[in-house]
Amino acid sequence: MPGPPDALAALLHESRRFPPPEAFAERAKAGPEVYAEAAADRISWWEEQARQLTWARPWDRALEWELPLAKWFVGGELNVSVNCVDRHVEAGLGDRVAFFWEGEPGDTRTITYAELHQEVCRAANALSELGVRAGETVAIYMPMIPETVFAMLACARLGAPHTVVFGGFSADALRGRVQDCDARTVVTADGGYRRGAPSALKPAVDLALADCPGVRKVLVVRRTGAEVGWVEGRDVWWHDIVDRQPASHTPEMFDAEHPLYIMYTSGTTAKPKGILHTSGGYLTHVATTHRLVFDLEAESDVYWTAADIGWVTGHSYIVYGPLANATTSVLYEGTPDTPSRDRWWQIVERYGVSILYTAPTTIRTFMKWGAGLLEGHDLSSLRLLGSVGEPINPEAWMWYRHHVGGDRCPVVDTWWQTETGGIMLTPLPGVTATKPGAAMVPFPGISAAVVGEDGTPVGAGGAGYLVVTEPWPGMLRGIWGDPERYRDTYWSRFPGCYFAGDGAKLDDDGDIWLLGRVDDVMNVSGHRISTTEIEHALVGHPGVAEAAVVGADDPTTGQAIVAFVTVRGGVAEDSESGARLVVELREHVAREIGPIAKPRQILLTPELPKTRSGKIMRRLLRDVADNRQLGDVTTLLDPSVVDSIKDRMTTAGDGD
Ligand code: WT7
Repeated sequence: MPGPPDALAALLHESRRFPPPEAFAERAKAGPEVYAEAAADRISWWEEQARQLTWARPWDRALEWELPLAKWFVGGELNVSVNCVDRHVEAGLGDRVAFFWEGEPGDTRTITYAELHQEVCRAANALSELGVRAGETVAIYMPMIPETVFAMLACARLGAPHTVVFGGFSADALRGRVQDCDARTVVTADGGYRRGAPSALKPAVDLALADCPGVRKVLVVRRTGAEVGWVEGRDVWWHDIVDRQPASHTPEMFDAEHPLYIMYTSGTTAKPKGILHTSGGYLTHVATTHRLVFDLEAESDVYWTAADIGWVTGHSYIVYGPLANATTSVLYEGTPDTPSRDRWWQIVERYGVSILYTAPTTIRTFMKWGAGLLEGHDLSSLRLLGSVGEPINPEAWMWYRHHVGGDRCPVVDTWWQTETGGIMLTPLPGVTATKPGAAMVPFPGISAAVVGEDGTPVGAGGAGYLVVTEPWPGMLRGIWGDPERYRDTYWSRFPGCYFAGDGAKLDDDGDIWLLGRVDDVMNVSGHRISTTEIEHALVGHPGVAEAAVVGADDPTTGQAIVAFVTVRGGVAEDSESGARLVVELREHVAREIGPIAKPRQILLTPELPKTRSGKIMRRLLRDVADNRQLGDVTTLLDPSVVDSIKDRMTTAGDGD
């Protein structure tokens, strides 16, 4: 395992402590006893949490565990959309706001639970009319608009697993996902608004579906009014079919293990993995963590997860967790700098946001833009701040706490993954004395450890790999269509344990600090991207002979993508054709995967450093990219290759 980078090593000597403010601790949802209660009997503690949901049939057994296959709440039946919507209306909360939605151009919509119920019922009726049945997958490729939530809940209501594909992904990425999960219906929009302009989605759908003969119907929301291509018999406008449906729908109940959704995420190969989540355990996990980690007061809080619904954070903490808890949330379509860089603080002030959950990369962007942008905005409604997606550096943590939280709001750094479904490591805001940069401890009912190469737990002060040692309710139920990859990826490295792929360290108090990924997965702006996937895209270009991609440290995005490329026939980087190729390759990657995968830098080099057995030495390239002292080069076939690459690195400018 690579040792911790310098910045991370330094933060392990962090001595600042921030205990919960007294008033906060006194009225917090979770007190210190919750850890002991959960530890006394983990499984019954989770059962107690599950009982807060509405079940049509109680479960017979809480857990069936046959490594690596878990079933939670076996025999239980429920409907996820009923739990997120109907039961709140029935409990008299119909007038409570579910979402304050704000479009990027400034259009707004307030949706109460009663309205959400009607919209979800109409959408479910429309999807049924289009032939969607329980067990049949629906792909959702949408901007951040209310219809995205309606569509997800309508799918859940019908028992049709959804796969939401992030709107920033390319047609190729969409095609691969639709094919992999055999989606028969696609829900999309003409486009959405980003950075002050309409950004089209439908053309990518049309392109992708040219190779997806299984897709029968495409349901299209009109959002931007842009002209769109139309396939008669396949394409249907949302307003034509959904709006005329009855606003009620009798839901069917499903098994606790019925598939809820598939979320694709990058692994260490070129093919993304379809992570499968099911119903009862997942909903229990996200509802419980949402209530306790964010100390939710559903009657009064205004909660905002500022992330995209296209990622797991949006699934668990914009849609399922908050709605299961009858939360009032903010949903914002666009970017933080449109029309001005204080857009978020306008939103916090306008809706009285009390809980804000976002990613370190955004916090660092705000730091770069300057604290002055927050001045003049009343942020006094905030009472709790959360961070997710990547390790948060203490400087960003402190800035968040001071400038956004006015030094009065606890900051919770939450570690989890697409695979874990919900939060796994986190402070509890009314209990834990936080340390800037540490995810601290496992959530109650979660068992995790840091282990060494041989799988034995390291002691206080030790570093190693993060593992989860017991099954948990929200855990993935497998990789869609690939049980072997599921076992290999997560359950073979440390027998009996789930291997997360992250390095971690225990400090002297035994609290956990995350050190980043230990595999070929990068984390760019909180998005997981595989080096292999980008290499695959690069070598797919006719001009490229070979490519190696590494993640370099980046002050804003956490990691940045750096690609080393050898060119067929050879081309000099400083030549005009070399410069043209670099531009073309960046566009090529954006087209193949999506703009988020565009390398920050592409270096054309005559050779890549290889071992005598022909393996590319990515570790060395990482050192070069980070400008570090070079590691061991004794196994290198031709050590001079690295020097020549280093020279190029220092003379080459950034990609953009
Ligand atoms: C990877 C999972 C969790 C939803 C968003 C990302 C990194 C996530 C933290 C954190 C340090 C973190 C890990 C993890 N990560 N949260 N609080 N501290 N690292 O989901 O795309 O599945 O990525 O993100 O490396 O393995 P994801």
